[in-house]
Formats: sequence, structure tokens, C-alpha cells
Amino acid sequence: VTLAVNASDPGRQMPSTLFGLFFEEINHAGSGGLWAELVQNRGFEAGGQNTPSIFEPWYKVGDQLQVSIGTELSSPFQRNPVALKIEVLCDSGDNSCPSGGVGAANPGFWGMSIVAGSTYKVELWVRSKTSFSLSVAFTSSDGTTVLAQSHLSVEASEEWSKRSVVVAATSTDHNARLALTSATRGVFWVDQVSALPTDTYKGHGFRKELATMIADLKPGFLRFPGGCYVEGQRMANAFRWRDSVGPYEERPGHYGDVWNYWTDDGFGYFEGLQLAEDLGTAPIWVFNNAHSRFAGVSHEQSVATELIGPFVQNVLDGIEFARGPVDSTWGAVRAEMGHPEPFQLQHVAVGNEDCNKPYYTSNYMEFYNAIKLKYPDIQIISNCDASIAPLDHPADLYDYHIYTNAKNLFAMRHQFDHSSRSGPKAFVSEYAVTGTDSGTGSLYAALAEAAFLIGIELNSDLVQMASYAPLFVNANDRRWNPDAIVFNSNQQYGTPSYWMQHFFKSSNGAHLIPSTVQADSSTSLASIITSAVRFHNASSGMEYLIVKAVNFGNTSLNVNLAVTGISASNIIPGESNIMVMTSSGVMDENSFTNPVKVAPQVSKATNAA
Ligand code: AHR
Repeated sequence: VTLAVNASDPGRQMPSTLFGLFFEEINHAGSGGLWAELVQNRGFEAGGQNTPSIFEPWYKVGDQLQVSIGTELSSPFQRNPVALKIEVLCDSGDNSCPSGGVGAANPGFWGMSIVAGSTYKVELWVRSKTSFSLSVAFTSSDGTTVLAQSHLSVEASEEWSKRSVVVAATSTDHNARLALTSATRGVFWVDQVSALPTDTYKGHGFRKELATMIADLKPGFLRFPGGCYVEGQRMANAFRWRDSVGPYEERPGHYGDVWNYWTDDGFGYFEGLQLAEDLGTAPIWVFNNAHSRFAGVSHEQSVATELIGPFVQNVLDGIEFARGPVDSTWGAVRAEMGHPEPFQLQHVAVGNEDCNKPYYTSNYMEFYNAIKLKYPDIQIISNCDASIAPLDHPADLYDYHIYTNAKNLFAMRHQFDHSSRSGPKAFVSEYAVTGTDSGTGSLYAALAEAAFLIGIELNSDLVQMASYAPLFVNANDRRWNPDAIVFNSNQQYGTPSYWMQHFFKSSNGAHLIPSTVQADSSTSLASIITSAVRFHNASSGMEYLIVKAVNFGNTSLNVNLAVTGISASNIIPGESNIMVMTSSGVMDENSFTNPVKVAPQVSKATNAA
């Protein structure tokens, strides 16, 4: 088989946003994942704002004769009224307390990873009727080994005070806990307990290794914060941007009832915008558009158009939060959070998978008109698919999601070949091979996805953006399978679908140039798709050519690459590489123990001038 490319063909420039990321709070992607907060249920609010509330996964350190713990409505925070009351019933003075004291401990998200030599910032609010010494310690899960510790002197006071301490770990344990203990008889209250490694991605609270993995993909955009997560199963449990900004102590947190877990909303709207900025990419805000996923007989979970006004204002406020000047109401809140400069928000999506919900189009128009009036430059994304028939409403882009088996996705490499070029552009914001073809992330799935993405490159006059979904999964709480990046408290690896995306990371803004495949008549080309892109690298000052080929068939083929339009003297000898992703079995996967079993292998091309 000969793959022919004319490198001097002017080609067509592809969008700089073509391949990006979709971050959703699913599988503990943020809470207990990318957001490096180690404490789970930091405000004791997970059971709602009544008492007794759910304080799990906090648990008692000591037996019932030594300590009692429970929730109380005594917090200093208006939107977070629940605090933890700890009554110490023993005392070191009469030797009735164990040596480490008694109190409460938090195991984080299936264990905290505490590493020798690293430092951690612990913050908490405390109030006590008597003066005492509070031990703040990372320990092994059974408390026998202290990994890092500090003792806080707490003065007797009716007032709450915020305490902050940085502790250095002397030992490593990836299944550690944070313990707050005392050996002085008395009563004290704690609230809003936080523990973060001091070393986070760009200093903004993102777990470094996970953020680095997504930065390595050179994403052209970041769609966030969901997905179904934005909608909620019921509207009361939808993500609310206002509740996720400002000081952490004042964020009420919420129960995400689609993926069924509580989040303290440490990773909120602000953090999504900040992450996009830190990755040097374009944020795409998906907002709740007054529809939830609830599919009841009544319309109670979809708001009728005549009542939509406050929802529209809420979205305008959200845009003002991102872009408004520091003297605007919401721009001031952003500035107070340490970001006076506006974020570069240029895209918003009106809901997620809501096109067929009651009132979608009429509600959409209210959002559309209000946003365009105030922010004419913002690109608006509709939930309705225009790939087959034109939309009955204006939109800059339409959202397209596809989860299917490998054969279907391979066939869908032609999905956009015949779609209208005169309407809105396409945003494939969620794609993945799912079901038995994917396992928990297989080479087979990645191969079909690569073919689909080549189809997107070839159609990138229409398709402006594409992102794999979901991005992350905490292996301890898999709510969706497969995913691109798997992690636990201290390890992470990319599935083949993650590594597949590395083949496309130079495509954003590159020029697509024609590639053709020729073979003798006995060779079928039905399972082959190719593309060629050319781009300029400013730091090396050189032009690069990347030719990609996917063979989805079960016959291996020898490929000769024939490049014309470039003189041999302009090719740097030994600089041509071949990158192949393969494995002995097509269903092979990566794992914590074998994280790069299926990953790109780079070798030097032979016969290259
Ligand atoms: O990616 C997982 C889910 O799939 C998303 O939340 C939703 O948009 C889609 O149904």
C-alpha cells in the first residue's frame, strides 16, 4: 500500500480548537480527583443542612467511653450551618485517654496519599469552651504511624477561629487519614476542615500528575463542568455556579444525583475557568438551562418559558462573573477570589442533551437573545443536532454526542461528510466506544476512535471541536466505563483512548493536506482511513508533516509513505519518526501495574532522506 502526500499542497487550516477536553464531575473526577483536596465532606454538610447530618466518611477516634462526636447547627457560616461537635470524655491527666488522644478522623477519598518530604496545608475552623491542645496529624489508617503532625493551642472562646498549619511528612502512606485529636477532657467544635498538598498544578489546587496528563494533550478547549451533572436528575440537585464560587467555607456543596455522590464544590465554576486558563485553552461553560434529566409525566422538571427570566439572569450573571470588570457585581467576586483579569470565556452551551425536553427551543431563544444582546461575541452552542436536518433556531454550534460500539464508530468516520455546511458548525463534545468492545479501555476502542477523529479532521471545515468522554475515573468509584484517565489516591494511567489522543495533539490549527492511498486490486482499502497535517513549530522554527493511518481491518498491511512537494535537502536527516500504538491483543488494556502496555511507541523512520 502506498500512502501519497504532497507536502506543498496549501491545504486548509483546521480550527485551533479542534481537539480538546470535556471535564465532568463524574467518577469523582474532580472531588477526590483533579481537585487535590484530601478531606471528604469538609463541612459535615453531606447529609443536608439539618442535624443530625451525615458526617461520614469522618469517624470517631477512640471508644464510646472516651469520645462522642455528632453534628450540630453551630457553624459560623450562613450557607454551611452544620459543624462537628467533639466531646472528649477522657483525659491524659488521669491516664484515661489513649496516647494519641481521641477525636475524629477523615480517610479522604479511599485513603489520602501522604508522601515523605512533601508538605500539606491543613486549615480548619475551631471553637472550644476550654483551652486545649489539638493534634492535627496525618496518620496510617489505623493510627499507629504518625506521618506528619502539628499541635495547635486552642484558647477558650465563644468565637470560632480559623487555624492554618503546614505540616511536612516524614513517612509515606497512600492510604492515610487526617486525625484531629485531643487528650484534654472538654467539648470543642470543628468545621470546614481542608487539607491540600502545597505543590499543586500552577499553585491552583489541581492534582499535579492528573493536570499534567491533560496538559500533555495540548487541548484546544475545556468543556465543563458536565454533562448530566449540570442538569441534575432533579433540578434541586443540578450544579449551581453561584454556590460554587467565593470562599470555600461559604460553598454549601451539593449532592449530584445523576452520578450519586456528594461534592463539597471545591472544584467549582471559578476552578473550571482557572483550569482552562492554566492549560492555556478556551473554556466552554455548560450551564443548566432550566431542565433536569427527570422524565416524569408532568413538566415539573422543565421550566416553562414564561418563567424563565430568573434562569436567564442567572446565566448573564455567570458570564459577568467570568468576564465582567472588577467594578461589576460578579466581576468583583471573581476579583476577590484573586483573579481581577477577566477569563477568556467565548463559548457557552445551553444545557446538555436537552433538545427534546419540553420548552427547550423557546427557552433556548430566551438565553440566546439575552446573551447575544449583552455579549455579541460569545458563541452559543445548541443541544439540537443539525447534522441531519437544519435547526429551527439560530446557533453558532450544535452539540453532538456519540457512544457506540467500535464497528459503528469506525463507520461513523463519514458521519459529517454530507452534513450541511451552511448552518451552525458542529461540536462533537462527547464521543467514545462503549460496551463490550471497550472493556475498561481497549486498543480496539481506541482504534475506532482514532478513525472517527481522522474523519473529523477531514470534516474540520464543519466540525470545530471534539472531545472524548468521560475524561477521568477514580478506580474506587467507577460510575461510567470506559474513561480516558484512571487514578487512585497516588497512581494514574491513561487508557488506550487517552494515548490515542496524543496522535492528534498537533492538529489544532495545523493545515490539513490531501493524502491518498493506492494499492493493487487485490487489496481492500475499506478498513483504512488516513490524513496528513502540516504545521509550523514556532520554538524550533521548522515545518512538520504528520501522516496518520488507521487500519481497522484484520489484515496487516505494509505501508510505503511517498511524500512529494519537498526537496530532500529540506528534510533533516534522522528527524523522521514513526509512532505506532499496538499490542499483542486487540482487547489489551493498561493498568496500574502495566500503565503503558498500550501506548504510542516512537522509532526512527527508515529510508527517510
Ligand atoms: O459522559 C457521560 C455522560 O454521557 C454525560 O454526562 C452525558 O452528557 C452523556 O449522556
